[in-house]
Amino acid sequence: MGRAAKTSIIAAFVSAAIALGNLPLVLADSASAEADRMMSERCAVCHGENGDGQGPSAENMNPRPRNFHNRQWQKSVSDETLAKAIVYGGPAVGVSAAMPANPDLAGQPELVAAMVKRIRAWGK
Ligand code: HEC
Repeated sequence: MGRAAKTSIIAAFVSAAIALGNLPLVLADSASAEADRMMSERCAVCHGENGDGQGPSAENMNPRPRNFHNRQWQKSVSDETLAKAIVYGGPAVGVSAAMPANPDLAGQPELVAAMVKRIRAWGK
C-alpha cells in the first residue's frame, strides 16, 4: 500500500472517531437548542423571554407566572416537580391552573430535561 493511501485511511479513521466522539455532545446541543426554541414559543408569553415571569400575558394574572430567577423558589422545587409542571400543568404540582399542561411532551423526556436545565440556569 502506498504512503498516500495509508495516510488517507488514517485520516478517515481519525475523522470517524472524532465524529463518533462528538455525537453525544451534538445531541445534547440539539436538545438544548430545541428547549430554547420551545420555551420561546410556549412559555415566554407568560414567563418572559428571560424567565423573569414578566411575559406579555403575565400582567393580569394572579398568581403571576413563576419568576425563574427566584433562588428561594429554585431551592424549594425538585427537577421532578418542574418536569411534572411542564408536562401535566400547574394543578399536578399544586400551583395555578393558569400554568398549562404540555401533554405532547410526555414522550420527550430529553427535551423536558433540557427545559428543566434551562430553568435551573436562570436560578444561578
Ligand atoms: C398562560 C401562562 C403560562 C404559560 C404559557 C406557561 N406558564 Fe408556567 N406558570 C404559569 C403560572 C400562572 C404559574 C403558577 C405560579 C404560581 O402558582 O406560583 C406557572 C408555574 C410554572 C412553574 C412552577 C411550578 C412550581 O412547582 O412552582 C414552572 C416550572 C413553569 N410554570 C414552567 C413553564 C414552562 C416550561 C412553560 C412552557 C412550556 C410554561 N410554564 C408556560 C403560567 C404560564
